[in-house]
Amino acid sequence: MRKINLQLNNIKIPILVGSNILKTINPENYVKRNDVVIITNSTIAKLYLKQTKRMFKDYNVDSLILRDGEKYKNIKTLQQIHDYLIKNKYDRSLTIVALGGGVIGDMVAFAADTFMRGVQLIHIPTTLLAQVDSSIGGKCGINHPLGKNMIGSFKHPSVILMDSAILKTLPKREFMAGMAEVIKYGLIKNKSFFKFIDNNYSKIIQQNTDCLLRTIFTCASIKAQVVKEDELESGIRAILNFGHTFGHAIEASKNYKGILHGEAISVGMNIASAISADQGYLTHDEYCNIEDMLLNMQMPTMIPKKITSASIMKHIGHDKKKISGRNRFILLDKIGNAFINDKLDNKYLKEISKNFIR
Ligand SMILES: NC(=O)c1ccc[n+]([C@@H]2O[C@H](COP(=O)([O-])OP(=O)(O)OC[C@H]3O[C@@H](n4cnc5c(N)ncnc54)[C@H](O)[C@@H]3O)[C@@H](O)[C@H]2O)c1
Ligand SMILES: [Zn+2]
Repeated sequence: MRKINLQLNNIKIPILVGSNILKTINPENYVKRNDVVIITNSTIAKLYLKQTKRMFKDYNVDSLILRDGEKYKNIKTLQQIHDYLIKNKYDRSLTIVALGGGVIGDMVAFAADTFMRGVQLIHIPTTLLAQVDSSIGGKCGINHPLGKNMIGSFKHPSVILMDSAILKTLPKREFMAGMAEVIKYGLIKNKSFFKFIDNNYSKIIQQNTDCLLRTIFTCASIKAQVVKEDELESGIRAILNFGHTFGHAIEASKNYKGILHGEAISVGMNIASAISADQGYLTHDEYCNIEDMLLNMQMPTMIPKKITSASIMKHIGHDKKKISGRNRFILLDKIGNAFINDKLDNKYLKEISKNFIR
């Protein structure tokens, strides 16, 4: 088992990464309280609730099972969590365990932040995306009918437990969506990791234990480092949004249906890399290397048909990452280094996007 210490202003968050660690970890090191509620969804409950409950066998442990799906990441389900906690008379000495992917993680963390002004939280991320991305950094919340992730806060867990073995049951498509974020970390921060993925992607996808653990550990370390440098997302943390300007616009154009976040990000990274080359920052060879890798891994590189450049531009205009009316676009000046560029105007982005529509 390996450990990353995410040191923030006033807290230290241990991130434990290993294979089958949920079977061996002693939660006593992290949970000093008696009441534990595990919150998960119906899919994950069938697979991992028993095992997770066993981990907390020395506590007064209970569970709440929510419906599975992004469409339930809303105020109604949040209220369902609050209702359950209040009806069962839990108080501030409660520890909540979020067992699930990003949907459960975001919503349960927000519930833990708002129930009685905040109770202890433990993340057990069960998707690749949640392990390498959403469980680290504290951002949490729910969707609003008028916008995704519009209601939320920052809530850090007291520990994050990342078990690579839990990904064995993850549908392949979900795993590959997580791989888009994995590639992102190589592109924005670590060239040798990018090369490692390039040389080993089949082993990673087949979940070879060593390769997968190295992947999760490296990505979690990069995310932790970036979050540490910019806890409240006022500056450098924006580089984590590489590929996300076009990615979000594609997701929104499809009304968040029929496309996974990581699939849209894969296209967005391809476009952002092409722009980086077109603007003279990235060499043509480097761009080809990136595009080839995405294609070899059978990740999407083109905007799905039926989406128009007008729709893309409408949603780029709404992107909440925009500051004072300017597009903050993340580009690469080489593989392994990203920077923020605010000089690309909408006309240019629209023209470029046309080259990527099937
Ligand atoms: N807070 C952040 O910083 C942050 C960052 C990125 C994404 N997010 C959020 O994360 C969410 C997406 O998360 P996701 O991609 O993990 O999707 P998800 O949570 O919907 O999980 C995907 C599917 O896989 C199932 N599943 C999860 N773990 C499994 C396992 N081990 N075995 C079998 N099935 C399993 C889930 O039940 C679900 O059906 C979005 O709501 C997004 O807004 C948050
Ligand atoms: Zn993302």
